[in-house]
Amino acid sequence: MVGVSEKIYTLGIIGYGGMAGNHRKQLEKKNVRVRLKGVYDIKEERRVAAVEQGYIAYGSVDALLADEEIDIVLVATPNDSHKALALRVLDAGKHLLCEKPVTMTAEELIEIMAKAKEKGLIFTVDQNRRVNRDFITMCRAIEGGLIGKPYVIESRVEGSRGMPEGWRTSKAQGGGMLFDWGVHLIDQIMYFCKEKVTDVYCKMFSVYYPEVDDNFRLTLTFEGGLVAHIEVSTNNFIKHPRFYVLGTEGTMVVDEWVGTGKVIQPLSRDDKWGVEIAQNKVGPSKTMAPRDPSTVREITLSEPEGIEDNLDPTYRQLVDAIEGAPLKILPEQALRVVRVMEAAFQSAESGEAVKVCI
Ligand SMILES: NC(=O)c1ccc[n+]([C@@H]2O[C@H](COP(=O)([O-])OP(=O)(O)OC[C@H]3O[C@@H](n4cnc5c(N)ncnc54)[C@H](O)[C@@H]3O)[C@@H](O)[C@H]2O)c1
Repeated sequence: MVGVSEKIYTLGIIGYGGMAGNHRKQLEKKNVRVRLKGVYDIKEERRVAAVEQGYIAYGSVDALLADEEIDIVLVATPNDSHKALALRVLDAGKHLLCEKPVTMTAEELIEIMAKAKEKGLIFTVDQNRRVNRDFITMCRAIEGGLIGKPYVIESRVEGSRGMPEGWRTSKAQGGGMLFDWGVHLIDQIMYFCKEKVTDVYCKMFSVYYPEVDDNFRLTLTFEGGLVAHIEVSTNNFIKHPRFYVLGTEGTMVVDEWVGTGKVIQPLSRDDKWGVEIAQNKVGPSKTMAPRDPSTVREITLSEPEGIEDNLDPTYRQLVDAIEGAPLKILPEQALRVVRVMEAAFQSAESGEAVKVCI
């Protein structure tokens, strides 16, 4: 049978920084059949931290890869180093979990995919935001028919504290918000809507960090007409809702992280217009006149239930795939996301929308 063994898999981590620390904490909960054995980081202080936490600190990437007990390697280094490390991991015969964005170009990702295939190893990407509560609330509400057919999904993550110093502000190292958060929001939308993307338009801003985008606005059009508008900001002191969705039968807002929100559905279209133009506080208007509240129904969206802890599904699907189950976070899906990001950079550079078939 597939995916039912009791085997515990052993993990090594290359790049023991902030995100790797999250993986460590999550694995210590022992929710999944993966245990961390040791790490390699170029910084001595991070190797010392690992030893203090009870793990092995290898002296080099090669030493970690030579450890026969290690089945899976997580690559959690800055984005520009993923490809070279990923190829070394696969060449050493280890299954590979790579942090997002898996690579900075489609070409690099295709090389890793070919290597994983050649070696017969599992290769997946940590697109862990597919289980975020706010995203699940939005998907469930649409799938439950609460707003009819969606035609605009606005997805935003907004901060006001700038960007962490270091590689995130360096273009060469794959910094900037499109690679950092955009990759998650694009993956979510493409995971939700299985149609092809036909059009990519992106505006990028470098408000405080000259080399990289610290804010961007990205608009994707899907083949069936759905428009996804994605924004990430690091200098935004008043937030929009996490999701704002327009459907043929209602409007939805979802709050950030927790996944609460509301849907407003019209009980009737209420589009019979008299000859007289209504007077509002801002002057006369028919189309924008306030609606009679008795003509709508408000549905409260509660925090969704039955959600797995962030990162657990990533590991669970990885070990299941090693044991023969179909992989869930597919490199092919990551490739589509990387291609959309390439088109977004192209659009931001040219100032024009890019026609694609992704
Ligand atoms: N999935 C998520 O939600 C999520 C969240 C945060 C970061 N990430 C991703 O995780 C990766 C790491 O991000 P971070 O926030 O942990 O960065 P970080 O700077 O905190 O950690 C990176 C670590 O890698 C080490 N390093 C750099 N080059 C190395 C090399 N060649 N070999 C070994 N170690 C090396 C650094 O010394 C550092 O300790 C990035 O790809 C980032 O996009 C993913």
